[in-house]
This record gives sequence, C-alpha cells and structure tokens, in this order.
Amino acid sequence: MSAAARLAVLISGNGSNLQALIDAITAGELDARIVLVISNVPDAPGLTRARAAGIATQVIDHRNYSERILFDEALAEAITPYAVDLVILAGFMRILSAGFIRAFADRLINIHPSLLPNYPGLDTHQQAIDNGDRAAGATVHFVSTELDSGPAIIHAATPVENYDTASSLAARVRQLEHQILPLAVQWCCSGRVAWRDNQALLDNKTLPPGGWRYVPVDQTLRKKS
Ligand code: GRF
Repeated sequence: MSAAARLAVLISGNGSNLQALIDAITAGELDARIVLVISNVPDAPGLTRARAAGIATQVIDHRNYSERILFDEALAEAITPYAVDLVILAGFMRILSAGFIRAFADRLINIHPSLLPNYPGLDTHQQAIDNGDRAAGATVHFVSTELDSGPAIIHAATPVENYDTASSLAARVRQLEHQILPLAVQWCCSGRVAWRDNQALLDNKTLPPGGWRYVPVDQTLRKKS
C-alpha cells in the first residue's frame, strides 16, 4: 500500500474506534487518510466525530433494503468510487454477505471485543464472565465469510477481575481496542501484514492463531520494575 493509504471506516454507533484512528492519524502514528465513513444508523454519534474531522460521511440505512444483499450492494457502490486500500469495520453491527466480503477480500478488517476464536457475535464480555475466564480482550482480524472469523492480526488481553461486570470489562477492553486498531491498520497500510493461505503474516512470518499479542506499554513497564 502507498504512503497515504485510503481508508473507509464502517460504523453503527459511538465511533470511539473511529476516533482512535482519527487521533492516530493526527498524531502521525498512522500514515493514512480516512476518505469515507459509512454508518447504517442515521444518528450514530460516530458520524459527528467524522464530520468534525472533515471526513466525508454517508448513511446507508439497512432498514431501507428488503434484502441483505441489496444493502451490501449499496455499500459496495458507495465505497468503490473512493478507491480505498482498506475497509475497516469499527463497530459495524451488520453481518455482511459473502459477495461483499469476497469483493473486498484481504482489504477488509474487523475489530471484535473478544479473544477470538472465543465468542464470535454479541455479549462477549458477559460470556467471558459467565464462563469464569481469567482473561478477556479484543482482536483485529481479516474478515472471512463466517461471522467474526478470518486470520487474526493482533489481540490484546486484560484480566477478568472478580468485581467485573460486562460494562466494566467492556470499558477496559475498549481502551485496548483503541490501541490495537490503529496499530493493525498501520501494519496493513505499510504492507507489513498480509493474508496468505488462510493465515495472517507479519513481516512475512506467520502469526499465531490469535494474532500478535499486544502488551500495553504501561504493563511492560510494570513487569520490568
Ligand atoms: C467495539 O467494542 C467493537 O469491538 C465492537 O463494537 C464496539 C464499537 O465501539 N465491534 P465504538 O463504536 O467504536 O465506540
């Protein structure tokens, strides 16, 4: 991918991950340009974040389409003229059809709030608590045609504490999301990450099944002291 890779970001809600991407670009940590933000929810707060950053926005309301495939065709038609290098699902709460996924194959990534392959779908944090998991987290992965699957690029984990609720855990995991998504996007934009033979590669080396394990800087420091 070229120096200033062109990104499309698809959202449905708050857009805090979109904001993390905008902030990383502003900070010079992500060499890319978000050229389009699409929301399927007309009043998604993330649209306000995009407009504040001067990014083109489009609303494609899934409720106006009688079939999933027609909605997906409208999405693809909206994205195509922008000639994007990467499409990022950042809290985009629609299941995409295989046709759409194939059309954007290997330039489509998603952030999911669990340590995949655990807990595809919804209510990930409550499931981690209910199952007595010791750790929860988030994963950025290439999108394949099964829900929340495809080769993982990077993940970050946080311990599940005995006082955690789904919302306290979600808040902690969200902070990690805001660190790993810009990093994964930067890796994609700089050509460091690729999808080959159903595996994600970083610098031509096969990544482990859960992707690169990201350790936040403060945890690294704590371990050393
Ligand atoms: C994030 O937890 C993301 O992992 C999930 O949806 C949430 C979106 O949050 N897919 P935001 O809209 O980016 O704040």
